[in-house]
Amino acid sequence: MELCNITGLKGKVQVPGDKSISHRSIMFGSIASGDTEVHNFLEGADCLATIRCFRTLGIDIEENGSVVTVHGKGLHGLSAPTDILDVGNSGTTTRLLSGILAGQNFESKLSGDESLNSRPMKRIITPLTQMGAHISSILRNGCAPLYISPSSLHGIHYNSPVASAQVKSCILLAGLYAEGETSVTEPSLSRNHTELMLKEFGADISSSHALDSTESTARIKPCRELYGQKITVPGDISSAAYFIAAGLIVPDSEILIENVGINPTRSGILRVCEDMGGDITLLNERVEAGEKIADILVRTSQLHGITIKGDIIPTLIDEIPVIAVMAAVAEGTTVIKDAAELKVKETDRIETVTDNLKAMGCNVTPTPDGMIITGGKLKGASIHTLLDHRIAMAFSIAALVAEGNTKILDSKCVDVSYPTFYDTFEGLL
Ligand code: S3P
Repeated sequence: MELCNITGLKGKVQVPGDKSISHRSIMFGSIASGDTEVHNFLEGADCLATIRCFRTLGIDIEENGSVVTVHGKGLHGLSAPTDILDVGNSGTTTRLLSGILAGQNFESKLSGDESLNSRPMKRIITPLTQMGAHISSILRNGCAPLYISPSSLHGIHYNSPVASAQVKSCILLAGLYAEGETSVTEPSLSRNHTELMLKEFGADISSSHALDSTESTARIKPCRELYGQKITVPGDISSAAYFIAAGLIVPDSEILIENVGINPTRSGILRVCEDMGGDITLLNERVEAGEKIADILVRTSQLHGITIKGDIIPTLIDEIPVIAVMAAVAEGTTVIKDAAELKVKETDRIETVTDNLKAMGCNVTPTPDGMIITGGKLKGASIHTLLDHRIAMAFSIAALVAEGNTKILDSKCVDVSYPTFYDTFEGLL
Protein backbone atom coordinates (compact mmCIF):
# COMPACT_ATOMS: atom_id res chain seq x y z
CA MET A 1 0.00 0.00 0.00
CA GLU A 2 1.38 3.42 -1.03
CA LEU A 3 0.20 6.47 0.91
CA CYS A 4 1.05 10.16 0.95
CA ASN A 5 0.24 13.22 3.04
CA ILE A 6 -3.22 14.73 2.94
CA THR A 7 -5.39 17.29 4.69
CA GLY A 8 -9.06 17.58 5.56
CA LEU A 9 -10.31 14.14 6.63
CA LYS A 10 -14.03 14.69 7.14
CA GLY A 11 -17.01 12.47 7.75
CA LYS A 12 -18.56 9.65 9.73
CA VAL A 13 -16.99 6.26 10.34
CA GLN A 14 -18.39 2.98 11.62
CA VAL A 15 -15.62 0.70 12.81
CA PRO A 16 -16.12 -3.10 12.84
CA GLY A 17 -17.12 -5.04 15.93
CA ASP A 18 -14.81 -5.40 18.90
CA LYS A 19 -12.30 -8.22 18.45
CA SER A 20 -12.20 -9.30 22.11
CA ILE A 21 -16.00 -9.39 22.40
CA SER A 22 -16.40 -11.18 19.04
CA HIS A 23 -14.04 -13.97 20.14
CA ARG A 24 -15.82 -14.37 23.45
CA SER A 25 -19.29 -14.43 21.87
CA ILE A 26 -18.32 -17.54 19.85
CA MET A 27 -16.55 -19.24 22.75
CA PHE A 28 -19.22 -18.62 25.38
CA GLY A 29 -22.02 -19.27 22.86
CA SER A 30 -20.49 -22.67 22.04
CA ILE A 31 -20.46 -23.84 25.65
CA ALA A 32 -23.87 -22.32 26.46
CA SER A 33 -27.16 -24.13 26.02
CA GLY A 34 -29.32 -22.85 23.17
CA ASP A 35 -28.54 -20.37 20.43
CA THR A 36 -26.37 -17.27 20.69
CA GLU A 37 -27.06 -14.69 18.01
CA VAL A 38 -24.21 -12.26 17.44
CA HIS A 39 -24.67 -9.01 15.55
CA ASN A 40 -21.80 -6.84 14.26
CA PHE A 41 -19.40 -9.76 14.63
CA LEU A 42 -15.87 -8.88 13.49
CA GLU A 43 -15.13 -10.84 10.31
CA GLY A 44 -11.39 -10.53 10.84
CA ALA A 45 -8.97 -13.45 10.47
CA ASP A 46 -8.45 -13.79 14.25
CA CYS A 47 -12.16 -14.16 15.06
CA LEU A 48 -12.67 -16.44 12.06
CA ALA A 49 -9.94 -18.66 13.57
CA THR A 50 -12.10 -18.92 16.71
CA ILE A 51 -15.11 -19.95 14.61
CA ARG A 52 -12.95 -22.51 12.77
CA CYS A 53 -11.73 -24.03 16.06
CA PHE A 54 -15.21 -24.38 17.56
CA ARG A 55 -16.50 -25.96 14.35
CA THR A 56 -13.65 -28.47 14.64
CA LEU A 57 -14.95 -29.09 18.18
CA GLY A 58 -18.36 -30.03 16.78
CA ILE A 59 -20.25 -26.74 17.14
CA ASP A 60 -22.61 -25.69 14.35
CA ILE A 61 -21.98 -21.98 13.61
CA GLU A 62 -23.86 -20.12 10.88
CA GLU A 63 -22.24 -17.05 9.33
CA ASN A 64 -24.32 -14.50 7.49
CA GLY A 65 -22.00 -11.53 7.01
CA SER A 66 -21.57 -9.89 10.38
CA VAL A 67 -24.49 -11.85 11.89
CA VAL A 68 -23.35 -15.14 13.37
CA THR A 69 -25.50 -17.76 15.06
CA VAL A 70 -23.84 -20.24 17.38
CA HIS A 71 -25.83 -23.38 18.15
CA GLY A 72 -24.43 -23.97 21.63
CA LYS A 73 -24.23 -27.50 22.99
CA GLY A 74 -23.81 -26.74 26.70
CA LEU A 75 -20.82 -26.85 29.01
CA HIS A 76 -20.09 -30.49 28.20
CA GLY A 77 -21.21 -30.56 24.57
CA LEU A 78 -17.90 -30.09 22.72
CA SER A 79 -16.62 -33.14 20.89
CA ALA A 80 -13.07 -34.41 20.39
CA PRO A 81 -11.44 -32.63 17.44
CA THR A 82 -10.54 -34.81 14.48
CA ASP A 83 -7.73 -32.42 13.58
CA ILE A 84 -5.21 -30.06 15.17
CA LEU A 85 -6.94 -26.79 16.18
CA ASP A 86 -5.56 -24.05 13.92
CA VAL A 87 -5.49 -20.79 15.90
CA GLY A 88 -3.79 -18.77 13.14
CA ASN A 89 -2.29 -15.51 14.43
CA SER A 90 -4.64 -15.24 17.42
CA GLY A 91 -3.33 -15.11 20.98
CA THR A 92 -6.84 -14.65 22.35
CA THR A 93 -8.08 -17.82 20.63
CA THR A 94 -5.10 -19.80 21.91
CA ARG A 95 -5.17 -18.72 25.51
CA LEU A 96 -8.93 -18.63 26.14
CA LEU A 97 -9.56 -21.86 24.23
CA SER A 98 -6.83 -23.61 26.24
CA GLY A 99 -8.74 -22.77 29.42
CA ILE A 100 -11.90 -24.38 28.01
CA LEU A 101 -10.04 -27.40 26.60
CA ALA A 102 -8.33 -28.06 29.94
CA GLY A 103 -11.77 -28.96 31.33
CA GLN A 104 -12.79 -31.41 28.55
CA ASN A 105 -12.67 -35.19 28.62
CA PHE A 106 -10.81 -35.46 25.30
CA GLU A 107 -7.35 -34.75 23.93
CA SER A 108 -6.59 -31.73 21.77
CA LYS A 109 -3.70 -29.97 20.09
CA LEU A 110 -3.52 -26.28 19.20
CA SER A 111 -1.09 -24.62 16.81
CA GLY A 112 -0.83 -21.31 14.96
CA ASP A 113 1.34 -19.35 12.56
CA GLU A 114 5.01 -18.55 13.11
CA SER A 115 4.33 -15.40 15.17
CA LEU A 116 1.73 -17.14 17.35
CA ASN A 117 3.94 -20.18 17.90
CA SER A 118 6.68 -17.94 19.27
CA ARG A 119 4.50 -16.13 21.85
CA PRO A 120 4.76 -17.10 25.54
CA MET A 121 2.29 -19.76 26.71
CA LYS A 122 3.99 -20.56 30.05
CA ARG A 123 1.81 -17.78 31.44
CA ILE A 124 -1.21 -20.08 30.97
CA ILE A 125 0.55 -23.45 31.34
CA THR A 126 1.65 -22.54 34.89
CA PRO A 127 -1.76 -21.66 36.39
CA LEU A 128 -3.62 -24.37 34.45
CA THR A 129 -1.12 -26.96 35.72
CA GLN A 130 -1.71 -25.69 39.27
CA MET A 131 -5.42 -26.37 38.68
CA GLY A 132 -4.55 -29.98 37.82
CA ALA A 133 -4.67 -29.59 34.03
CA HIS A 134 -2.54 -31.69 31.71
CA ILE A 135 -1.19 -29.13 29.26
CA SER A 136 2.24 -29.02 27.68
CA SER A 137 4.25 -27.20 25.08
CA ILE A 138 4.91 -29.88 22.45
CA LEU A 139 8.35 -28.47 21.56
CA ARG A 140 9.11 -27.84 25.27
CA ASN A 141 9.88 -24.20 24.56
CA GLY A 142 6.97 -22.71 26.53
CA CYS A 143 5.12 -21.88 23.28
CA ALA A 144 2.44 -23.44 21.05
CA PRO A 145 1.88 -26.02 19.64
CA LEU A 146 0.14 -27.10 22.84
CA TYR A 147 -1.12 -30.54 23.82
CA ILE A 148 -3.98 -30.84 26.31
CA SER A 149 -5.31 -34.11 27.72
CA PRO A 150 -8.14 -34.90 30.16
CA SER A 151 -7.75 -34.32 33.90
CA SER A 152 -9.92 -33.22 36.78
CA LEU A 153 -9.53 -29.57 37.68
CA HIS A 154 -9.72 -27.92 41.08
CA GLY A 155 -10.10 -24.23 41.85
CA ILE A 156 -7.05 -22.18 42.81
CA HIS A 157 -6.25 -18.64 43.72
CA TYR A 158 -3.75 -17.30 41.21
CA ASN A 159 -1.67 -14.16 41.64
CA SER A 160 -0.94 -13.23 38.06
CA PRO A 161 2.40 -11.48 37.56
CA VAL A 162 0.97 -9.64 34.51
CA ALA A 163 -2.21 -7.65 33.92
CA SER A 164 -3.36 -9.84 31.03
CA ALA A 165 -7.00 -10.42 30.12
CA GLN A 166 -6.00 -13.49 28.14
CA VAL A 167 -4.35 -15.11 31.18
CA LYS A 168 -7.21 -14.06 33.49
CA SER A 169 -9.86 -15.31 31.06
CA CYS A 170 -8.07 -18.62 30.47
CA ILE A 171 -8.08 -19.35 34.22
CA LEU A 172 -11.69 -18.22 34.71
CA LEU A 173 -12.87 -20.42 31.83
CA ALA A 174 -11.02 -23.42 33.27
CA GLY A 175 -12.68 -22.46 36.58
CA LEU A 176 -16.08 -23.23 35.00
CA TYR A 177 -14.95 -26.87 34.94
CA ALA A 178 -13.08 -26.95 38.28
CA GLU A 179 -14.18 -28.09 41.70
CA GLY A 180 -14.62 -25.15 44.08
CA GLU A 181 -13.93 -21.48 43.52
CA THR A 182 -11.25 -20.15 41.18
CA SER A 183 -9.90 -16.63 41.55
CA VAL A 184 -7.29 -14.52 39.80
CA THR A 185 -5.64 -11.39 41.15
CA GLU A 186 -3.89 -9.17 38.64
CA PRO A 187 -1.61 -6.20 39.38
CA SER A 188 -4.09 -3.83 37.74
CA LEU A 189 -7.38 -4.40 35.98
CA SER A 190 -7.07 -5.67 32.39
CA ARG A 191 -10.03 -5.67 29.98
CA ASN A 192 -13.01 -7.21 31.78
CA HIS A 193 -15.18 -8.42 28.88
CA THR A 194 -15.00 -12.02 30.12
CA GLU A 195 -16.34 -11.05 33.53
CA LEU A 196 -19.14 -8.90 32.07
CA MET A 197 -20.17 -11.37 29.37
CA LEU A 198 -19.98 -14.56 31.41
CA LYS A 199 -22.30 -12.91 33.92
CA GLU A 200 -24.80 -12.23 31.13
CA PHE A 201 -24.53 -15.92 30.13
CA GLY A 202 -25.48 -16.87 33.71
CA ALA A 203 -22.10 -17.72 35.26
CA ASP A 204 -21.45 -17.26 38.98
CA ILE A 205 -18.68 -14.66 38.57
CA SER A 206 -17.73 -11.52 40.47
CA SER A 207 -14.87 -9.06 40.74
CA SER A 208 -13.47 -6.68 43.33
CA HIS A 209 -10.74 -4.07 43.61
CA ALA A 210 -8.23 -3.75 46.44
CA LEU A 211 -8.74 -0.53 48.42
CA ASP A 212 -5.06 0.06 49.08
CA SER A 213 -3.54 -0.85 45.68
CA THR A 214 -4.37 -1.11 41.98
CA GLU A 215 -4.87 -4.90 42.34
CA SER A 216 -8.05 -6.45 41.06
CA THR A 217 -9.52 -9.92 41.65
CA ALA A 218 -12.05 -11.92 39.62
CA ARG A 219 -13.74 -15.03 41.05
CA ILE A 220 -15.77 -17.79 39.43
CA LYS A 221 -17.62 -20.85 40.71
CA PRO A 222 -18.64 -23.74 38.48
CA CYS A 223 -22.26 -23.59 37.34
CA ARG A 224 -24.56 -26.17 35.82
CA GLU A 225 -25.39 -24.29 32.68
CA LEU A 226 -24.71 -21.14 30.65
CA TYR A 227 -27.54 -19.73 28.54
CA GLY A 228 -27.34 -18.53 24.92
CA GLN A 229 -27.63 -14.76 24.46
CA LYS A 230 -28.36 -12.17 21.82
CA ILE A 231 -25.26 -9.99 21.53
CA THR A 232 -24.64 -6.79 19.62
CA VAL A 233 -20.90 -6.25 19.50
CA PRO A 234 -19.88 -2.59 19.97
CA GLY A 235 -17.39 -1.02 17.56
CA ASP A 236 -13.78 -1.81 18.47
CA ILE A 237 -12.01 1.09 20.19
CA SER A 238 -8.72 -0.46 19.08
CA SER A 239 -9.84 0.03 15.45
CA ALA A 240 -11.38 3.44 16.20
CA ALA A 241 -7.97 4.46 17.56
CA TYR A 242 -6.57 4.88 14.02
CA PHE A 243 -9.33 7.31 13.08
CA ILE A 244 -9.06 9.13 16.41
CA ALA A 245 -5.35 9.65 15.71
CA ALA A 246 -5.97 10.62 12.08
CA GLY A 247 -8.64 13.13 13.10
CA LEU A 248 -6.29 14.72 15.63
CA ILE A 249 -3.09 14.94 13.55
CA VAL A 250 -4.22 15.42 9.93
CA PRO A 251 -4.74 19.17 9.40
CA ASP A 252 -8.28 20.48 8.98
CA SER A 253 -10.04 17.24 9.97
CA GLU A 254 -13.25 16.40 11.78
CA ILE A 255 -14.32 12.77 12.15
CA LEU A 256 -17.29 11.24 13.95
CA ILE A 257 -16.72 7.59 14.89
CA GLU A 258 -20.02 5.95 15.76
CA ASN A 259 -20.97 3.16 18.21
CA VAL A 260 -17.58 2.60 19.81
CA GLY A 261 -17.13 0.50 22.96
CA ILE A 262 -15.62 2.74 25.64
CA ASN A 263 -15.39 0.25 28.50
CA PRO A 264 -12.99 1.97 30.97
CA THR A 265 -10.67 -1.06 30.82
CA ARG A 266 -10.19 -0.34 27.10
CA SER A 267 -10.46 3.40 26.70
CA GLY A 268 -7.13 4.64 28.06
CA ILE A 269 -6.43 6.09 24.63
CA LEU A 270 -9.19 8.66 25.14
CA ARG A 271 -7.57 9.89 28.37
CA VAL A 272 -4.16 9.98 26.71
CA CYS A 273 -5.45 11.98 23.73
CA GLU A 274 -7.10 14.48 26.07
CA ASP A 275 -3.92 14.76 28.15
CA MET A 276 -1.98 15.41 24.93
CA GLY A 277 -4.34 18.30 24.16
CA GLY A 278 -6.65 16.47 21.74
CA ASP A 279 -10.11 17.84 20.97
CA ILE A 280 -12.31 14.80 21.67
CA THR A 281 -16.01 14.79 22.54
CA LEU A 282 -18.07 11.78 23.56
CA LEU A 283 -21.65 11.88 22.31
CA ASN A 284 -24.68 9.66 22.81
CA GLU A 285 -23.14 7.73 25.74
CA ARG A 286 -25.05 4.58 26.74
CA VAL A 287 -24.64 1.12 28.31
CA GLU A 288 -25.58 -2.13 26.54
CA ALA A 289 -25.11 -5.55 28.17
CA GLY A 290 -22.79 -3.99 30.73
CA GLU A 291 -20.57 -2.38 28.05
CA LYS A 292 -20.31 1.42 27.73
CA ILE A 293 -20.73 2.75 24.18
CA ALA A 294 -20.45 6.23 22.65
CA ASP A 295 -19.90 8.16 19.43
CA ILE A 296 -16.51 9.88 19.38
CA LEU A 297 -16.02 13.24 17.69
CA VAL A 298 -12.42 14.29 17.00
CA ARG A 299 -11.05 17.50 15.52
CA THR A 300 -7.53 18.46 14.49
CA SER A 301 -5.50 19.57 17.49
CA GLN A 302 -1.98 20.65 18.37
CA LEU A 303 -0.80 17.75 20.53
CA HIS A 304 1.95 17.89 23.15
CA GLY A 305 4.11 15.16 24.70
CA ILE A 306 3.19 13.47 28.01
CA THR A 307 4.31 10.56 30.20
CA ILE A 308 2.20 7.40 29.93
CA LYS A 309 2.84 4.80 32.64
CA GLY A 310 1.37 2.64 35.38
CA ASP A 311 -2.11 1.17 35.54
CA ILE A 312 -3.37 2.99 32.45
CA ILE A 313 -1.06 0.82 30.30
CA PRO A 314 -3.27 -2.33 30.18
CA THR A 315 -6.21 -0.14 29.11
CA LEU A 316 -4.40 1.02 25.95
CA ILE A 317 -1.80 -1.67 25.31
CA ASP A 318 -2.94 -2.39 21.72
CA GLU A 319 -3.11 1.34 20.92
CA ILE A 320 0.52 2.10 21.80
CA PRO A 321 1.72 1.86 18.17
CA VAL A 322 -0.71 4.59 17.08
CA ILE A 323 -0.15 6.62 20.27
CA ALA A 324 3.56 6.54 19.39
CA VAL A 325 2.70 7.94 15.96
CA MET A 326 0.77 10.81 17.57
CA ALA A 327 3.73 11.42 19.90
CA ALA A 328 6.04 11.56 16.87
CA VAL A 329 4.26 14.67 15.59
CA ALA A 330 3.40 16.21 18.97
CA GLU A 331 5.28 19.12 20.49
CA GLY A 332 7.90 17.96 23.01
CA THR A 333 8.70 14.54 24.42
CA THR A 334 6.47 11.57 25.22
CA VAL A 335 7.69 8.84 27.57
CA ILE A 336 5.98 5.43 27.54
CA LYS A 337 6.87 3.19 30.52
CA ASP A 338 5.65 -0.02 32.20
CA ALA A 339 4.77 -1.48 28.80
CA ALA A 340 7.16 -4.45 28.55
CA GLU A 341 4.14 -6.53 27.46
CA LEU A 342 4.58 -4.88 24.04
CA LYS A 343 7.48 -7.26 23.45
CA VAL A 344 5.20 -10.33 23.40
CA LYS A 345 2.47 -9.11 21.06
CA GLU A 346 2.16 -10.16 17.38
CA THR A 347 5.66 -8.67 17.01
CA ASP A 348 8.00 -7.11 19.56
CA ARG A 349 6.19 -3.79 19.30
CA ILE A 350 8.88 -1.81 21.12
CA GLU A 351 11.18 -2.80 18.28
CA THR A 352 8.73 -2.62 15.35
CA VAL A 353 7.40 0.78 16.45
CA THR A 354 10.79 2.37 17.15
CA ASP A 355 12.49 0.91 14.05
CA ASN A 356 9.74 2.21 11.77
CA LEU A 357 9.55 5.61 13.49
CA LYS A 358 13.33 5.93 13.04
CA ALA A 359 12.93 5.08 9.34
CA MET A 360 10.51 8.04 9.14
CA GLY A 361 13.12 10.36 10.66
CA CYS A 362 11.72 10.46 14.19
CA ASN A 363 13.87 11.00 17.26
CA VAL A 364 12.93 7.88 19.24
CA THR A 365 14.73 5.69 21.76
CA PRO A 366 13.54 2.20 22.72
CA THR A 367 13.73 1.33 26.44
CA PRO A 368 13.27 -2.06 28.15
CA ASP A 369 9.64 -1.24 28.99
CA GLY A 370 8.61 1.34 26.43
CA MET A 371 10.07 4.19 24.43
CA ILE A 372 10.94 7.90 24.49
CA ILE A 373 9.72 9.91 21.53
CA THR A 374 10.49 13.54 20.69
CA GLY A 375 7.99 14.99 18.25
CA GLY A 376 8.93 16.64 14.98
CA LYS A 377 8.39 16.22 11.24
CA LEU A 378 8.10 12.77 9.66
CA LYS A 379 9.28 11.76 6.20
CA GLY A 380 7.92 8.96 4.01
CA ALA A 381 9.60 5.57 4.27
CA SER A 382 9.14 1.85 3.62
CA ILE A 383 7.37 0.41 6.65
CA HIS A 384 8.26 -3.12 7.69
CA THR A 385 5.09 -4.39 9.33
CA LEU A 386 6.51 -7.89 9.92
CA LEU A 387 2.87 -8.93 9.29
CA ASP A 388 1.67 -7.12 12.43
CA HIS A 389 -1.78 -5.63 11.72
CA ARG A 390 -1.45 -2.85 14.29
CA ILE A 391 1.90 -1.73 12.87
CA ALA A 392 0.40 -1.56 9.37
CA MET A 393 -2.52 0.59 10.51
CA ALA A 394 -0.58 2.85 12.88
CA PHE A 395 2.00 3.66 10.20
CA SER A 396 -0.70 4.22 7.59
CA ILE A 397 -1.76 7.11 9.84
CA ALA A 398 1.84 8.31 10.13
CA ALA A 399 2.01 8.30 6.31
CA LEU A 400 -0.81 10.85 6.14
CA VAL A 401 1.32 13.50 7.88
CA ALA A 402 4.76 12.52 6.50
CA GLU A 403 6.53 14.41 3.75
CA GLY A 404 6.73 12.26 0.60
CA ASN A 405 5.43 8.77 -0.04
CA THR A 406 5.21 5.90 2.41
CA LYS A 407 5.02 2.26 1.45
CA ILE A 408 3.36 -0.11 3.93
CA LEU A 409 4.83 -3.56 3.24
CA ASP A 410 2.50 -6.56 3.59
CA SER A 411 -0.41 -4.21 4.32
CA LYS A 412 -2.82 -7.11 3.78
CA CYS A 413 -2.09 -8.14 7.39
CA VAL A 414 -4.76 -5.60 8.46
CA ASP A 415 -7.17 -8.48 7.71
CA VAL A 416 -6.36 -9.88 11.15
CA SER A 417 -8.51 -7.28 12.92
CA TYR A 418 -9.83 -4.82 10.32
CA PRO A 419 -10.22 -6.19 6.77
CA THR A 420 -12.02 -3.04 5.54
CA PHE A 421 -9.52 -0.56 7.06
CA TYR A 422 -8.34 0.97 3.77
CA ASP A 423 -11.89 1.15 2.34
CA THR A 424 -13.12 3.06 5.41
CA PHE A 425 -10.22 5.39 4.91
CA GLU A 426 -11.08 6.13 1.32
CA GLY A 427 -14.59 7.06 2.46
CA LEU A 428 -13.13 9.99 4.39
CA LEU A 429 -11.06 11.43 1.55
C1 S3P B 1 -6.96 -9.44 24.55
C2 S3P B 1 -6.11 -9.11 25.57
C3 S3P B 1 -4.86 -8.37 25.37
C4 S3P B 1 -4.81 -7.68 24.01
C5 S3P B 1 -5.27 -8.60 22.91
C6 S3P B 1 -6.70 -9.05 23.16
C7 S3P B 1 -8.20 -10.19 24.88
O1 S3P B 1 -3.77 -9.27 25.46
O2 S3P B 1 -3.51 -7.22 23.74
O3 S3P B 1 -5.21 -7.94 21.66
O4 S3P B 1 -9.11 -10.24 24.03
O5 S3P B 1 -8.30 -10.70 26.01
P1 S3P B 1 -3.09 -9.67 26.85
O6 S3P B 1 -4.07 -10.38 27.67
O7 S3P B 1 -1.93 -10.55 26.47
O8 S3P B 1 -2.65 -8.38 27.47
